[in-house]
Amino acid sequence: MTTVNDTALNKAAPDQSDARSHRTGSGTASAVRLDGVSVRFRTKRKDVTALSDVSLDVARGEFVAIVGPSGCGKSTLLKLVAGLLAPSAGAAVLGGEPVRGPRRDIGYVFQRAALLDWRSARRNILLQAEMRGLPAAAARARADELIRMTGLDGFEDAYPHELSGGMQQRVALCRALLHEPPVLLMDEPFGALDALTREHLNVELNRIWRETGTTVLLVTHSIPEAVYLADRVVVMSPRPGTVTEVIDVGLPRERAYAATLASAEFRGATGRIRELLGAAGAHD
Ligand SMILES: Nc1ncnc2c1ncn2[C@@H]1O[C@H](COP(=O)(O)OP(=O)(O)OP(=O)(O)O)[C@@H](O)[C@H]1O
Ligand SMILES: [Mg+2]
Repeated sequence: MTTVNDTALNKAAPDQSDARSHRTGSGTASAVRLDGVSVRFRTKRKDVTALSDVSLDVARGEFVAIVGPSGCGKSTLLKLVAGLLAPSAGAAVLGGEPVRGPRRDIGYVFQRAALLDWRSARRNILLQAEMRGLPAAAARARADELIRMTGLDGFEDAYPHELSGGMQQRVALCRALLHEPPVLLMDEPFGALDALTREHLNVELNRIWRETGTTVLLVTHSIPEAVYLADRVVVMSPRPGTVTEVIDVGLPRERAYAATLASAEFRGATGRIRELLGAAGAHD
């Protein structure tokens, strides 16, 4: 098993110009691609079109945030990529392979940490290795590395009820990263946290992303969070969800928090996204 640093070398994140050429190229270098995807849910009472003709191309090592009004299909989009849901039309492609069922080459962080109460922080993280049958010693070493990276040292043996909400989310993040997934899917992972803890985790996530070179798709309701973290922000319309606009965040990948928030690029991007969401009548 490789270490975090090896991983960073192996999957060195492309710079912005590379990312652009990947997006406009044949798509073979994409980490995630959605080609004209639509999703219709048929229930006894009604039909709901959650997504309508959504196309998206995410380059390897890119960080893409997705924002949009409640019910516009953001979680549905992540489930498509993970293979937990099949599209009604179009196709999802992950790592060059069409998604035909649940994919193991992803990490998934849910809105709630979803930890097992009877397992310590470390053993919750190691659950990922047990489920995948990964070699135990290497998994333990990697878990310890992630525990250090996320500032959980000293709490390895604590149980979830002994951890703060922010710490629980860190454990969930470590678990999602344990097997070094090329693609990390995050569905409002920090929604339940207080503003300050959320800021700290945003800074940590930016660093972890740069160190691991993982491709990230993050769904969030926070416009500042989306702009602080992402290379690009996908703004979606109300249901049926379509891509309204994709905003290029013209910031370097290494982002000091206060300086970034004070920058003209940050204010420009957040302002534009607010405008788009406001125009859709969909503040939340
Ligand atoms: N399994 C399902 N069966 C029927 N309808 C569903 C199902 N999953 C989602 N939907 C519908 O699809 C639409 C999109 O749902 P989705 O959960 O993707 O929205 P979202 O953008 O993640 O919203 P939120 O921001 O509130 O989490 C909603 O109208 C929802 O009711
Ligand atoms: Mg959702």
